[in-house]
Amino acid sequence: MKIELKEISKSFGPVAANTKINLSVSSGETLGLLGENGAGKTTLMNILTGLYKPDSGQVLIKGQQKEFSNPRDAIKNGIGMVHQHFMLVPVFSVSENVILGNEPITALNRINLKEAREKVLNISSKYNLDVDPDELVERLPVGVQQRVEIIKILFRNAELLIFDEPTAVLTPQEVSDFFRIVNSLKNSGKAIIFITHKLHEVIQICDRINVLRRGEVVGEVNPKKTSNSELAELMVGRSVNLNTKRKKIDPGDVLLKVKNLQVISDKKEKAVSNVNLKLHEKEILGIAGVQGNGQTEFIEALTGLRKISSGEIFYFDRNCTNFTPRKIHQMGIKHIPEDRQKQGLINEFSITENIVLNTYYEADFSKNISLNWNNARSEATRVMKKFDVRANSESSPANNLSGGNQQKLVIGREMSRKINLLIASQPTRGVDVGSIEYIHGQIIAARNAGIGVLLNSTELEEIIALSDRIVVFFEGKIVAELPSNTDPKIIGLAMAGVVT
Ligand SMILES: Nc1ncnc2c1ncn2[C@@H]1O[C@H](COP(=O)(O)OP(=O)(O)O)[C@@H](O)[C@H]1O
Ligand SMILES: [Mg+2]
Repeated sequence: MKIELKEISKSFGPVAANTKINLSVSSGETLGLLGENGAGKTTLMNILTGLYKPDSGQVLIKGQQKEFSNPRDAIKNGIGMVHQHFMLVPVFSVSENVILGNEPITALNRINLKEAREKVLNISSKYNLDVDPDELVERLPVGVQQRVEIIKILFRNAELLIFDEPTAVLTPQEVSDFFRIVNSLKNSGKAIIFITHKLHEVIQICDRINVLRRGEVVGEVNPKKTSNSELAELMVGRSVNLNTKRKKIDPGDVLLKVKNLQVISDKKEKAVSNVNLKLHEKEILGIAGVQGNGQTEFIEALTGLRKISSGEIFYFDRNCTNFTPRKIHQMGIKHIPEDRQKQGLINEFSITENIVLNTYYEADFSKNISLNWNNARSEATRVMKKFDVRANSESSPANNLSGGNQQKLVIGREMSRKINLLIASQPTRGVDVGSIEYIHGQIIAARNAGIGVLLNSTELEEIIALSDRIVVFFEGKIVAELPSNTDPKIIGLAMAGVVT
């Protein structure tokens, strides 16, 4: 089967999301669609799956022109999409979710469910999609929920599977499982469109790559013959420096000291045990580790978001164990949280409101008992300018911004106030290359200016690029402390608990 898009254009008011796009994909092939946030990838796929009608252009399947007025039409023609945000019902089982949408809910009777369950098992064994058909979706980790979405479209006989930024929500381990699944789908004759903004992923998994920029296809490249820098340049439209420059400087005094820290997780288990570390001024200390090894709880404990069950924290020799988040913030410890949507921003709030989210009570921003809007707005415009936050205005709501701009907003807010210690957790997760370059530059500039940085990242490349020193977390403990020039293989082994 061959699916073609011919001269597709689509605008939203003044925004040309897609301009005369041509592309094609065939059975047994993985096509990569690479582009920055806002390049038009999702819009194009929403057209292909019948969610949007193009302003002009055609969709052809096996040479025949098709018009889809909704996703049902598309799936009838063998085209299915796994969306960036899953569309599953948490309180339903895997099998129930798989048949849901195929039939009215009232048809969720025993017989349908039994047949569905059988079919789910068949599909899951055929494509290595390991999942329990009877488990409730809400109990499944994100990586497994994604498999349910895949089964859901295979159940409807999809021949083309579209994945929209599928790895953005996955851990490195889940990513390799996912890649195995993609290859097994491809090898059994499915056509795949894989959307991402991560360069190494398209190089690793795709047979062909189309690069999208500002709504246009700006190049088609062969993954075997391209490089990260060629792809980055096509994507961003200018050359991008992927090698972060970090000159060596001598660290200053001890800024943060953690002694025998113990922290309990939500599941009432020991998440962090006996952690000791020191962080100096003018130093970036990287925390490497596979997600779920206590890093999240550790950072929460340092920032006052989680209670410390034993041990102590000193900041400039002052014991600040179990201080409140506000107190910690006021002392000059700033936090870039790992989940900007849940902890960093309030989506419905404007940029201005988000800028004063944790400082509204400070003298600069308060006027008697209300907010000093003028000061808040001018601070917002200042941060937007300084940290390259691109938006229509400071009154735009946060959820109108792309991921990269949201992240720059959080970073700008935290770094614009009194700061001695920056705790940055996953600072570039789900962010485009241009913004990664920018954010890395800001973190290094902070360190050069004398700030201590604690960098928590599950991206080993990021840890290696930025850190002056690295500690590795495994099962809640620090299992290794390594200099920044350590062989990545050794760091990777330590992340799996293997220390030589
Ligand atoms: N429903 C919509 N209404 C208005 N503008 C939209 C809509 N969907 C997308 N856009 C705009 O179209 C452009 C392309 O967006 P999108 O296709 O989501 O890009 P990508 O998936 O590559 O990040 C962006 O400028 C975005 O703001
Ligand atoms: Mg998108």
